Amino acid sequence: MKTWIVYYSLEGNSEYTAQQIAKEMHAELLPLHPVKAYPTGKVSKLIWGGKSAVMSEAPALEPYQFDKADCARIIFGFPVWASKIAPPLRTFIRNNDLKGIRFAAFACQTAGGSDKAFIQLKSELGIDALDAELVLNDPKTNPDDANLQKIKDFCEKLSF
Ligand SMILES: Cc1cc2nc3c(=O)[nH]c(=O)nc-3n(C[C@H](O)[C@H](O)[C@H](O)COP(=O)(O)O)c2cc1C
Repeated sequence: MKTWIVYYSLEGNSEYTAQQIAKEMHAELLPLHPVKAYPTGKVSKLIWGGKSAVMSEAPALEPYQFDKADCARIIFGFPVWASKIAPPLRTFIRNNDLKGIRFAAFACQTAGGSDKAFIQLKSELGIDALDAELVLNDPKTNPDDANLQKIKDFCEKLSF
């Protein structure tokens, strides 16, 4: 049974992280795509994405292939939006029976808010703790060698 990386990325930082983790762990990548894409404009992304996160929306998603029978663990990946999870994750969590699966997660942010976002993620999942948590600050737009080590440490923690 595999590890699946279920992630949403608006601007590529979470996608970059998901790909690095997938390389380390030979995990399946499952990108989530909202039917109505969030805008990427400097201001419009903050208005629409921020509102969607604050309102705890669960936007409809494009069809995806998820095989629960072949899933031992999910690593959720998301950008922090207004100190919350990016809403597409909520849709996935609510639309799938995830009983019996183990969970870990990573968050990409610019400066802060991931602590609150992880609390919200755990609440959506109905769990007290994740197997591992990773936070990176804009790893694609601000490359930093230290990030690769953090990713390795995160994967190592999940290898036991
Ligand atoms: C709507 C919106 C809200 C955001 N809120 C936060 C925030 O609360 N804290 C923070 O540090 N970064 C915030 N950011 C920045 C992103 O979390 C950060 O750039 C992240 O690395 C983007 O990931 P992505 O490229 O996978 O979309 C926000 C960005 C957007 C679009």
